[in-house]
Amino acid sequence: MSFETEVINEGLTKIEVPRVERLRGPGRKSRLPFFNPLMRTNRDVSVFVALTVLSDGDKVLDGLAATGASGLRIALETKNELAVTLNDRNPICHDLITRNIERNRAKGCSVTCEDLNSLLSRGRFNLVDVDPFGTPVQFVEGAMRATTNGGVAAITATDTAVLCGSRRRACMRRYSSRPRRTDYCHELGLRILLGYIARAAARFDRGIEPLLCFSADHYFRAIVRVRRGARRADSTLEKLGNLHVHGLGRELIPEKGVAGPLWADAFLDAAFLESVKLPSYFPHKVSKLLELWREEASSPPLFYTTGEVAREFVSEPPALDRIIGALRDEGFVATRTHFRPDAFKTNADVESIGRILRT
Ligand SMILES: C[S@@+](CC[C@H](N)C(=O)[O-])C[C@H]1O[C@@H](n2cnc3c(N)ncnc32)[C@H](O)[C@@H]1O
Repeated sequence: MSFETEVINEGLTKIEVPRVERLRGPGRKSRLPFFNPLMRTNRDVSVFVALTVLSDGDKVLDGLAATGASGLRIALETKNELAVTLNDRNPICHDLITRNIERNRAKGCSVTCEDLNSLLSRGRFNLVDVDPFGTPVQFVEGAMRATTNGGVAAITATDTAVLCGSRRRACMRRYSSRPRRTDYCHELGLRILLGYIARAAARFDRGIEPLLCFSADHYFRAIVRVRRGARRADSTLEKLGNLHVHGLGRELIPEKGVAGPLWADAFLDAAFLESVKLPSYFPHKVSKLLELWREEASSPPLFYTTGEVAREFVSEPPALDRIIGALRDEGFVATRTHFRPDAFKTNADVESIGRILRT
């Protein structure tokens, strides 16, 4: 199959990609190798995670590699001596990945053309990246088993409408969890994905520790450390909960509620985020995001939009900075959130939010 290509620069890597009309949104299945320039931030994140967690001799699997963009960037932009496997079952991708490795003279890279689950059943890797079209559910168990003890798995999901409650039954089938369409459904969706990963890990006596889990554009990404052992699995399962709502109040607790089961613990690891050092050539957008994630890491779960608190207590939505400042002045924790630019997280109870808004 012949198709027109072009070479683009991303980070320190030159990537030959199909020349196709770019579409916004999630990838669509086609025989052409898939490349979405809008997913650059996701690949930038892969590079800084690899820079932060890997050391010489570590093994990396870019399991659904397409053009090889992500795995190649890890191989070239982290200074460590890594063994990077780039896998895609599409033979056209295999040829393109081979050319991209040669073009960049990338050391330590190998290409495979297999079904990802078959590769995951045999190999062991310190970093496993799974970036599918749509839901990752069919690869999650394999990824949990193939990640070394203390290694990291990075799982992307682009079926955000399902996880956010637009297709409730599909969410129950895929994730065995009840979603809920709300102003804060993106946080619930991310927590449903994490809850699914946690249960898949536990089935094989493994636990997870979320390092950086986030929502961006049309996708969710969960980057977690995997730890072996039945005790780790048990303590991971204790972090699952359900959503309960009472008026504007909301909380995540173990008893069955209106949505769940879902991850009820932290999804951003403050110490990990503090240890990240971004390369100087990274886009400003990534440093702004990192700053926001670091801020959010200190916050309690769930958030309120300025619109919903205004509907409840006052007529006009308050300025975000004003409400965050006023809550902090009263001694509460209050931060922005990466989920929405018009929302805040706080440990203040709903009555206190109302009182502060009215003054
Ligand atoms: C969304 S694309 C990956 C994009 C890539 N990670 C990037 O950063 O540009 C998904 C890829 O998975 C491949 N794929 C789908 N199912 C697979 C399977 N079961 N085993 C191996 N590859 C598969 C497809 O051929 C496609 O190239």
